[in-house]
Amino acid sequence: MPLLGRSLLDTRTLSAQHIDEIFLKADSMQLGRDAVAAKPAPVVCCLFFEPSTRTRMSFQMAAYRLGLEVLTMELSAGSSLSKGETPSDTVMNFAAMKPDVLVVRYGTSRELDALLPTLKIPVLNAGSGTLAHPTQGLLDAYTLRAEWGSLKGRRILIFGDVLHSRVARSGFDVFTKLGADVGVFGPEHLLPSDSSMSEKFGVRVFTSLEEALPWADACMGLRIQLERHDARLAPDGESLGGSVAANYLSRYGLTVDRLKLLRSDALILHPGPINHGVEFAPEVVSDPRSRVLDQVTNGVRIRAALLALILGR
Ligand code: CP
Repeated sequence: MPLLGRSLLDTRTLSAQHIDEIFLKADSMQLGRDAVAAKPAPVVCCLFFEPSTRTRMSFQMAAYRLGLEVLTMELSAGSSLSKGETPSDTVMNFAAMKPDVLVVRYGTSRELDALLPTLKIPVLNAGSGTLAHPTQGLLDAYTLRAEWGSLKGRRILIFGDVLHSRVARSGFDVFTKLGADVGVFGPEHLLPSDSSMSEKFGVRVFTSLEEALPWADACMGLRIQLERHDARLAPDGESLGGSVAANYLSRYGLTVDRLKLLRSDALILHPGPINHGVEFAPEVVSDPRSRVLDQVTNGVRIRAALLALILGR
C-alpha cells in the first residue's frame, strides 16, 4: 500500500519497503536555504522561555510581512522542559533543525548567555534576564527619532525599576550612542548601585520626579519587575496589592499632577506591559504626549528591518 495520503501513527503499520522508501526520500531532500528545486521561504524560529505579548507577536508579524515562515514555541508550557530538558538542550535542538534565524527570550541564564553566541545560525535576542533587550532599545530610539529627526542633545528620562530592567540597559546604550543625555529616577533600592550607569553611560541620577520631569524631552516609565526581585530588595514586602500600588504611584510614579510638570512638547514612552495605577496613573496612556502604541507599531518595523538585513532580503 503506497504511503500517499496515509497517516503514520505507529511504525507497525510500515513494511520494510516503506521504511526504505522513506529513507531514500530523506536522502534526497534539500532542506537548506540553498535548495534550488522549490526554494523555501527562510524560517524564523521563535523560542520564548518567558512570557511576551509585544515582542513575540511583532517578530511574528514582521516575519509574515516579509514572507518568511515562522515557528513559535512558548516554552513556559507544552515543551520538553517540563520533562527535565535544559534550556540549552532545547535551544541546541531547535538550532539542529536548521532554521534560518532563531529569536530567543529567556530569564537569567549564564548557560544561554554563553551558548547563544556560539551557534552557527543568527540569533536575535528578544530579551535576556536583566541584561539586554536590544530590539526594544532600537524601537524606542526609532520612535523618538520619528518625532525629533535625531536624538542628538535630547534628554531622555527612564524611571521606575531600573535595576531589573533590560529595557533600561539597552536604552542607555542606544540612546547615548545616538547622542542623547539619559537620566534615571526610581526608588533607591531599584536603581543599580554599581557604577555601570553613571560611569559607563554617563547617566544622571535624579532624586525626585519633580526635578526630573521638567528636565526631560521624553520620559519612559518602567514596570516593577517583581518576578526578578530578590526578596531582600523588597522593603515593603512588595506586591502590587492596592495600597502598595497606590503608595508606589504617589511616591515614584507619573501621577496626573506630575504630568503637568512635563513640557507640552515632551513625549511619554513605556515598553509595556503597563501596570496602570502603579508606575503610570490610568490617565497617562491617553495623554496626547503618549507614544506608547507608536512604540508597538515601530516594533514591527524594527524587527522586520533586522530580519531583512540578517537574511539579505
Ligand atoms: N516590551 C516587551 O518586551 O513586551 P513583551 O514582554 O510583551 O514582549
